[in-house]
Amino acid sequence: MSLPERDALDKSEGGVTEQSNMRLRMEKFIKEQQQSIIAGLAAVDGEYSSFRQDEWTRKEGGGGITCILQDGTVFEKAGVGVSVVYGTLPKPAIEKMRANHKNIGGPGELPDKIEFFAAGLSLVVHPRNPMAPTVHLNYRYFETANPDGTDGAWWFGGGADLTPSYLFDEDAIHFHRTLKDVCDKHNKDYYPRFKKWCDEYFYNKHRGECRGIGGIFFDDLDETVADKENLFAFIQDGLQSFLPGYIPIISRRKDMPFNESEKEWQQIRRGKYVEFNLVHDRGTAFGLNAPGARVESILMSLPLTASWKYMYEPEPRSREARLTEILKEPKDWV
Ligand SMILES: *[C@@H]1O[C@H](CO)[C@@H](O)[C@H](O)[C@H]1NC(C)=O
Repeated sequence: MSLPERDALDKSEGGVTEQSNMRLRMEKFIKEQQQSIIAGLAAVDGEYSSFRQDEWTRKEGGGGITCILQDGTVFEKAGVGVSVVYGTLPKPAIEKMRANHKNIGGPGELPDKIEFFAAGLSLVVHPRNPMAPTVHLNYRYFETANPDGTDGAWWFGGGADLTPSYLFDEDAIHFHRTLKDVCDKHNKDYYPRFKKWCDEYFYNKHRGECRGIGGIFFDDLDETVADKENLFAFIQDGLQSFLPGYIPIISRRKDMPFNESEKEWQQIRRGKYVEFNLVHDRGTAFGLNAPGARVESILMSLPLTASWKYMYEPEPRSREARLTEILKEPKDWV
């Protein structure tokens, strides 16, 4: 029986419980979180705001739910997507993954293809007000099955990061503090390691600056880091800390006064956000290269508006210049 067939059978027989396999538990958890996150964000946007929800399936197996609030009162574009994908990995992809996961494909010679499962929740929120920061988050679980039907490799990845156009230190501190508390609860080494990983990953090499003021980022967390239950608990805490990490920030900033030149600076910063996502982000490239990819769901992270003004430089010693300096030299916020 293939992985999706086994999972469909388990779901219909016993539902999803603590005893179910991690694929089913992760799927259930991220779908529940998606609903509470969109409810929390819609409430900030306004009494009558709601997300459009598109449920889609992939003919190769699996599917997802893409939730979008576009042209809102507070949010210019907010997307919260869940995808649950079953597929097969060809040999070159397995070889690449073996660098980080020695037991992928089972013992002995590498098989020609293996089945995989990937489930994740991603979100990107672009507010209208230039004083309010963009936020991104992604938590995901990946698993492979050996050709003989035994469990293969598995790992978790994820993180969250903040991208302001105008930097308010108290926002940066609150965002990082929330993530550090989650990390520290599980392992005191996580925050320093994952904070650094984030600064290095969300980096626009071609411009020599970070995309934003960071957060945490990690990948390939497997049994060499902690057991599966503990890592799942960490992922759950991370995802559940999103609303408490972001809502206080957006609430403080959404109604602040701003003028035309501040809006223009936001548009220029957004342009750089787009550059990272289209040029450097591995998740976007992986998604777009996957057979049967739902392009609109992958590109939901792009803002509604952005601009590229030739040779634009902020005034020396301005707030805009200070942000640029910090993006070149990431700071420790907590
Ligand atoms: C907008 O506000 C900033 C900060 O107060 C100021 O430096 C700038 O000149 C203003 N721009 C316009 C177009 O009013």
